[in-house]
This record gives sequence, C-alpha cells and structure tokens, in this order.
Amino acid sequence: MAKMEVKTSLLDNMIGVGDMVLLEPLNEETVINNLKKRFDHSEIYTYIGSVVISVNPYRSLPIYSPEKVEDYRNRNFYELSPHIFALSDEAYRSLRDQDKDQCILITGESGAGKTEASKLVMSYVAAVCGKGAEVNQVKEQLLQSNPVLEAFGNAKTVRNDNSSRFGKYMDIEFDFKGDPLGGVISNYLLEKSRVVKQPRGERNFHVFYQLLSGGSEELLNKLKLERDFSRYNYLSLDSAKVNGVDDAANFRTVRNAMQIVGFMDHEAESVLEVVAAVLKLGNIEFKPESRVNGLDESKIKDKNELKEICELTGIDQSVLERAFSFRTVEAKQEKVSTTLNVAQAYYARDALAKNLYSRLFSWLVNRINESIKAQTKVRKKVMGVLDIYGFEIFEDNSFEQFIINYCNEKLQQIFIELTVKEEQEEYIREGIEWTHIEYFNNAIICDLIENNTNGILAMLDEECLRPGTVTDETFLEKLNQVCATHQHFESRMSKCSRFLNDTSLPHSCFRIQHYAGKVLYQVEGFVDKNNDLLYRDLSQAMWKASHALIKSLFPEGNPAKINLKRPPTAGSQFKASVATLMKNLQTKNPNYIRCIKPNDKKAAHIFNEGLVCHQIRYLGLLENVRVRRAGYAFRQAYEPCLERYKMLCKQTWPHWKGPARAGVEVLFNELEIPVEEYSFGRSKIFIRNPRTLFKLEDLRKQRLEDLATLIQKIYRGWKCRTHFLLMRKSQIVIAAWYRRYAQQKRYQQIKSSALVIQSYIRGWKARKILQELKHQKRCQEAATTIAAYWHGTQVRREYRKFFRANAGKKIYEFTLQRIMQKYFLEMKNKVPSLSPIDKNWPSRPYLFLDSTHKELKRIFHLWRCKKYRDQFTDQQKLIYEEKLEASELFKDKKALYPSSVGQPFQGPYLEINKNPKYKKLKDAIEEKIIIAEVVNKINRANGKSTNRIFLLTNNNLLLADQKSGQIKSEVPLVDVTKVSMSSQNDGFFAIHLKEGSEAASKGDFLFSSDHLIEMATKLYRTTLSQTKQKLNIEISDEFLVQFRQDKVCVKFIQGNQKNGSVPTCKRKNNRLLEVAVP
Ligand SMILES: Nc1ncnc2c1ncn2[C@@H]1O[C@H](COP(=O)(O)OP(=O)(O)OP(=O)(O)O)[C@@H](O)[C@H]1O
Ligand SMILES: [Mg+2]
Repeated sequence: MAKMEVKTSLLDNMIGVGDMVLLEPLNEETVINNLKKRFDHSEIYTYIGSVVISVNPYRSLPIYSPEKVEDYRNRNFYELSPHIFALSDEAYRSLRDQDKDQCILITGESGAGKTEASKLVMSYVAAVCGKGAEVNQVKEQLLQSNPVLEAFGNAKTVRNDNSSRFGKYMDIEFDFKGDPLGGVISNYLLEKSRVVKQPRGERNFHVFYQLLSGGSEELLNKLKLERDFSRYNYLSLDSAKVNGVDDAANFRTVRNAMQIVGFMDHEAESVLEVVAAVLKLGNIEFKPESRVNGLDESKIKDKNELKEICELTGIDQSVLERAFSFRTVEAKQEKVSTTLNVAQAYYARDALAKNLYSRLFSWLVNRINESIKAQTKVRKKVMGVLDIYGFEIFEDNSFEQFIINYCNEKLQQIFIELTVKEEQEEYIREGIEWTHIEYFNNAIICDLIENNTNGILAMLDEECLRPGTVTDETFLEKLNQVCATHQHFESRMSKCSRFLNDTSLPHSCFRIQHYAGKVLYQVEGFVDKNNDLLYRDLSQAMWKASHALIKSLFPEGNPAKINLKRPPTAGSQFKASVATLMKNLQTKNPNYIRCIKPNDKKAAHIFNEGLVCHQIRYLGLLENVRVRRAGYAFRQAYEPCLERYKMLCKQTWPHWKGPARAGVEVLFNELEIPVEEYSFGRSKIFIRNPRTLFKLEDLRKQRLEDLATLIQKIYRGWKCRTHFLLMRKSQIVIAAWYRRYAQQKRYQQIKSSALVIQSYIRGWKARKILQELKHQKRCQEAATTIAAYWHGTQVRREYRKFFRANAGKKIYEFTLQRIMQKYFLEMKNKVPSLSPIDKNWPSRPYLFLDSTHKELKRIFHLWRCKKYRDQFTDQQKLIYEEKLEASELFKDKKALYPSSVGQPFQGPYLEINKNPKYKKLKDAIEEKIIIAEVVNKINRANGKSTNRIFLLTNNNLLLADQKSGQIKSEVPLVDVTKVSMSSQNDGFFAIHLKEGSEAASKGDFLFSSDHLIEMATKLYRTTLSQTKQKLNIEISDEFLVQFRQDKVCVKFIQGNQKNGSVPTCKRKNNRLLEVAVP
C-alpha cells in the first residue's frame, strides 16, 4: 500500500524551538536554555538555519535505527524534527540531483562528538545510496577504514576516551547516479609526541594496548613482545585499562577491518612489526661513559632490547648502536662526527620512535587510499567529510595546540565567510534587499598566525633556519618584537607596557586571543617541534633495514639521494596543507555540524551551562543566529507556507487555485500582518520576526482545533445521517416484505375458508340430490318388483295349464344322455394307440365323469393288453410264462438276473440229436429233454472245474461226459431238495440231494453256468409239474453243501479282478470252499 503522505513540519510538537532563528528574545541565556530544554528531552539536535548543532548525549539514543533512516530519506530539511540525517540527506540529494559537490564540516572541541557525527553521516549516506555487490563492497571498505585509522590515530585523553589525535578529511566520490565509487582520505598532523610521552590520566595510541591484549601468544612471541603493559616505558600505566573498552575485542575488529579494506596478510604483519619496534625502542636505555675529552658519551645499558629490535626489523645492530652514540653533520661535502651525550641519545631515540610511528600512520592512510580509490576515471561528484580536532585550551598549551587552534581559526573563518556568503546569495537569489550584518571576522587572527612576513609561523620558521644559537626564548623575543602591537597577541615581554603588570602572564609564554577565547602558549619546545629533527644517521640506519616497510618509510636515508636542503618545517607543512584544505572546501557546498560537549565528565544527562556557554561563545553560535536572521528570521518556500497556513483564510481554504505566492499574499493580507513584518522573495516568503511566525503558528493551532471540531461535527452528522438513512431504507424494505407476507397469509386463509364453505354447500346439495334419486330409484324398483311379481303371478296363472309335473326330470335325463353321447363320441376319436406301454389318455371333460373316465381308461388298457396277448403262439406263451416265473424267483434277489431278461430261454442248447458223437447218449434217454447244456462241474475236492453235459428231462437230471457222451450221474427229480446260489453276479449253484438217496452217495453237486437263471427256473417248473412240490431255492452268499460225509461251507467273497471277469473257486480246507466273484 502506498504510504500516505503526511505533511509534517519542524514546527510540529517542538520542544523549545527546533530552529534557533525562532528564538525570541535572542541572547546567550535563551540559546543555552533552549539547548538545555531540548537536551533534557533527548533532543540533541537543533538547527540554526541549515547548520546542525549537536549536543553529545554520552549515551546511545534510539534515533539512528534503519526506520529513522527511512523516515528522513527524501524528506525536506524542515519537514521533520532536527537530525543529523536531515543534513546528510539534504547534502546527498543536492549532490546527486543538483550536481553540487558537498563538504560536511564537523567542528567542536575534543569529546564533543565530531568523529561519531562523521560516522553517522557516512553510515546514513551508505544506507541511502545505491546498492549492489560492487557498490556494497566500496561502502564496506569506506566504513571499515574508520576502525583502522582510529586504532592507530586515536587515544584516550582526559577529555575523550576515543580522542582523534589527527585531523581527517575524507572525500567520498560518487558517480552520476549517486552510487559511491571510492574515496580519498587526507590526514593532518598526527600528535606524535604521544608515542613517547602521555600526560597524566591519558594513554598512548590504542593500537599498542590492543596488540598486547588481543594478540595471540604466537603473534607476541614472533614480535618479541610480552603481554604485560608495565614492561614498556612508552605505555603509561595509570590508565592502561579504559572503562567500557575491550582492547582485545577491538584488536580483532581492527584486524578484520584491515582485511576488508584490502591489507594483505604480510602487510598487516609488517605494520605490527613496526608497532612492536616502536614499543621496544622505548625500552632502550643509555648510560654515560666518560671520554678522554672530558665529555660524556652515551652507551646503551642493555643491548638485549636493541638486539631484538634489529632482529625484528633486519637492521644491522652495530649501525643502529652507533647511530645512538654519534651524530654526523655534513656541510659542504664535509662530514663531522660528534658524540651524543645521554640526553641527546634519549632525544634521538624518541625522535626515531615518533618518526617511525607517524610515518607508519601516513603510510597506512596512503595504503587505505590505494584500496578505496575510485577505479574509474569518469567525472566524480564529491562529498567531503571533515573531522578535525577541535579547539583546545589546556593548562599547558604547546606547539600542537597552537597548530590545532590555528586550523580551527581557519575553519571558523570559512564558516563565517560561507555562511554570510550563502545568506547574501539567498537574498540576491530571492530579490530581497541585503541589510549589512555586524559580525566578528577572525581574519585578523588568522593573519596574526599565518602572515608570510610577520606571522607567528613565519617567525618560527625564520628562527629555525637562522644560523647561530636558536632557542625557544629567542623565538619569543622575536615575537615580542614583531607582534607586540597586534590586538590579539599578548606577552609579558612585549613592548606594550600595559602587560607588564599583567602577572597572570608567566615568563616564556605568549597569549593569543582566539575567536574562541584566550589561550596561553608555552614557547618551550616550539623550535624543536617545528624542526622535527631526526638525525641523518638514524634515518640512514632505518633505510638500511631489510624490513621492506621500514625501508620505504625513510627514503631520505638513501645515501644516493642525499639532500642537503632542510626539509620543510612542521609549521609550514601544516600551513600549506591547511591552505589546500581551505581551497578545497571553498569549492564545495558547505554543511555544518557544530558539536557541543555538555559536560566534562563524559556523563549522560548532565548539562553544564557554564561549559556550554563557553562553547556557544567560541563557536560563535549567537553570531551565527544573528547573521542568519539579520533582516529576516524565518523563510519558507511559498508552497509549504501556503499548505501550512491556508486554513487561516477563507479564500485559501480548502483549496487555492492560483499560484502559491498569490495565495500567501491573500493570506497575509487577510490576517492583517503588518507589511514591514514580511517580504516576498522569488520562491520564498521572508518573515522578519519570529513573533510573527509564532502568531501564525498560534492561529494555526487554534484553527486546527476548530477544524478538528468541524471535521468531527461533520463526520458525526454524516455518520448519524447515513446510519439513519440506512435504517429508514431497511425499515421500508422490512415493512414491504411484512405487508406482502401478511396479505398473502390473509388471502390464503380467506381462500381456504371459501373452499371449505363451498365444499360443505356442494356436499350438502349433492347429498340432497342423491337422497332424492335414491328415493326415486327405490320407488321404481319397488314398482318393478311388484309389477314382476304381479306379471309372474299372472303368467303362471295363465300358463299353469300348459306344463307337466315331471318334465324337469325328463329334460335332465335327456341332457345327460346328450352329454354322455357326446363324450363317448369324442372319446372314440381320441382313443390312444394300442401299445400296452402307451401312457397317454385324453383329459376328462366333466367333473361328474371322473370315475367313468378312470374306469374307461382301465378297461381300455386291459383290453389292449388282452389284444396284445392274443397275438402270442403257445410256444411264446410258454417262454413268457417261464420268464415270468424267473422274474418272480430272482428279480431283486440275484444280481445275475437282469442280464438274463433279454436272453431267450432255449433249453436244449446242445443239439444232441444232430451230433452223432452223442448218439449213444440220445439213445439212452427216452424222455423229452428240457435242458441240454454244457456246465462246469466243480470238483468237490479241489474246486477245479470240468465240463459236463447237463441234461434235464421231465423226471431226471443227468450229467454226461462232454467228450464221450457217457452218462456219469442220474438223479431223479424227487431226490433234488434244494438249489442254492449266491446273490451275486456269478453262475455258481449247488444242487442239494435228498439224504440217503442213491444219487447222494457222492454228495451234492456244485456247478457253474452262464444260463443259471434259465436252468434254475426250468428245474423249478419241472419239479413243480412232476412232483407237485415247490423246489426250495436259497439265495445266500454262504451256504452249506454235503460232500460225502462232510458239510462244506461255500462262501462267496468279493474277489480281485486279476482273473478277469471269471469267478474262481478254491477249496480252502475241509470246511470251506471259497468262490471269488469279481
Ligand atoms: N551521537 C552520539 N550518541 C551517543 N554518544 C555519542 C554521540 N556522539 C558522541 N558520543 C560519545 O562521546 C564520545 C566522544 O565522541 P567523539 O569521539 O566523536 O568526540 P570528538 O569530537 O571526535 O573528540 P576528539 O576531538 O577528541 O576526537 C564518543 O566516544 C561517544 O561515547
Ligand atoms: Mg574525534
């Protein structure tokens, strides 16, 4: 969702005033009170026009979050409450969109928050400028250059635990899109004296402590260092540990930052080796040794440390040792060597340490520049950030303070110049008449210091270069002569007699009245520090080192490039670099951040009014405000002005159609603001007094309240009305629906009632008609019945004479006769075939004929059976009789029977008559032969069989040999008592003989024949007809036979099929004969 744009203004919810130009009345007290009030409410930033005043909160405030960055991004400067981000955004956008190079000048005294401010600016710009892998790397390198430079260039001082001991100016370069390309860092005058000596309560540069605390054992061994700070003369012990600072962790941060910035591992190591060498140099001590000429010559006390330094740096020990004892002066090709006394040796040692360290620092800056320099040659836009040491007023102020304060004078000067210039330019741009502003111009102080002919720096240089004995006192004398008349110079010895009584001014001092206050400088050390002398022997010794980095730091030590000309003095070098810086700054659009330190205790929530008052004075803030509001205190572009106040006038509210300027004119006329109170510029309205603005603000506030009430009123009315309308609409809809529903219901009720009434009436009518019709019908029926009876009676009466009394029976009989007749006639045609086995019979036509019909069927069947029988011959009849006999005897008793049914009984199978072989046999028999057949006679002894001719005659049973036809046995039928056989499918049978008969001497016969059924039947019939006795036929699977004296049991068993379908007979023992039937 698009963020709704809310028009806000700096003027909203202000604590005190956000912009000091609005202060009324304007004086030191109101300025301080305003800052204090805002500080107490955690509002650390306040504007003077476009200048940001920042009061160090000494605690972390939640106002630098990414959300805040977003809040300030692309917003107008005066839209939100004052913030360093607003200034950064303004500068960045002006650089990106209007192509104006920018510089951000951060000033303030030590501990006021300059370095923090510079980092905030950089991080804001980094957050809002372009993104992408390459751009991000550039950003990261730029940001990570800070920890490296801080480690080597910052130290704990009494004023600031992380005080920058060098001046820093960084140009951040951007391409046309506003993406960062790289940067260039310039450093100014590192406070190198700190390397060898620190004031009470202060520390050496952070890096020494970081290395000793955070370096690994291995690293320290390699660098021949010990972890204990107290081992090193150059480290002050009273504040080796700083509260809230973790040196070890910072060391890791620095190593990491070096890596990100692009230091190779060997480079980082070399840097640490130089740091170690500097530390160890401090431990070299000297002792005097008397020489023949009576002078003392210094000698190194303990050469161990020297040896280690030389091992670390690859310097020839003897060369370095000699450099600490002798000094060679070269003049006009002549070399003169003089010995050094102990004091000179210490001086030489410290000079070497300071030089080594400060040159290392410059090398670091150059190395970083190499990494972060823009990789393209396209035209770049530049944003410079200047974080330079602030104005310093100590008890003992020396050369360094002098230089630093000089730099601050210069900055103040360009601040005044540029502010006034900008103000003037704006007036011209806007076409407003310029009124001259009275303000203090410090050019005169700058001139006192930097004037080429009689400036203090020039005097100092002159002294340093002058032949003869030069001391700090001679320098002071010179100053007394040259500068005595200067308004801002004071000294006890100056010709101006008024200072003679000034006992506050000690000897060997001079005082300068800086724009920020009076500062008393001790001249001691000025000459020396300005000379910044390092004995040539030492620089040559360094050049000879095999350590590449050290060698490169001392190019002047190269004997081949001996330069007899003196190197430029520290003062003139600094002056030159300040001049370059000023030139550089003047070409850019300046943005100011003026830092104020609220207390000396580095503590949060304390606002020391005295201290702040002092800073306000020397920063010239009051003047700044005055300049800014000379003529007109407040200005605003027409559009936002109209937008903000349009509700104060009927014509402009709610919308103004014409140009904004005309709208503002109408508005101001309407409000009757006196004409001298404002002026119309080209794009801005200028308001002379803050009073007027506040009046506008008050009116606006009042009007806003009224408007809010109005809006509320209209909104409430609108809400109620819409609610009412909605309710009314709903009520109508509900009523309509309800009416419809009620009507529908009523209609249904009426309709159903009408139907009920209707139906009742119809029912009643119908019933009435029905009743009438029924009555009529009953009347008619009654009449008909009566008529019928009457007619009947009449007819009967009339015809009685024509009917006979028994005519009914006759008719009945006649009818019956006719039916019977018809039945029989039909039956004649339907009679089934004459086959006795035909089961068909026509169906019965009348129930009363049932028994007749059945009887007729029985008769018919008997008749056709008779008809069938009548066809048989006697022969056939006999056969059938026999067959019938066989059926009665064997059916369902003997398993062999069914197979005999189909066989015709032939009786004499063997035709004895025709076979001559049996002539004798035939002749022996006179009777009629009933059976003649070959049977198997079973041998009683072993069960084996032999063929015999079996003959049955009317009275006898004969057995004859099959071959010879000779009769073997003859049994009269009367002697046959019983025939036994099995129930199975075999042809075995026994013929039992009467006991005691002649034939029975050998015992009963056992035969086997295929025609058993026929033979048994015929035997039975013959016996019956001859003896009138029924032959006993026993059918059983176990029966006894009499063999001579023995009774033998013939047993039929289920035999196996081995012998095919032929039953086998076996005599098992005396008592058992077994027949196996398959
Ligand atoms: N905006 C801030 N928010 C929180 N703390 C701050 C802020 N500005 C400064 N400080 C605190 O004040 C201390 C000093 O600030 P800083 O080092 O920036 O001072 P300086 O002006 O650079 O001093 P010097 O001139 O000695 O370098 C910081 O270490 C930090 O603790
Ligand atoms: Mg700083």
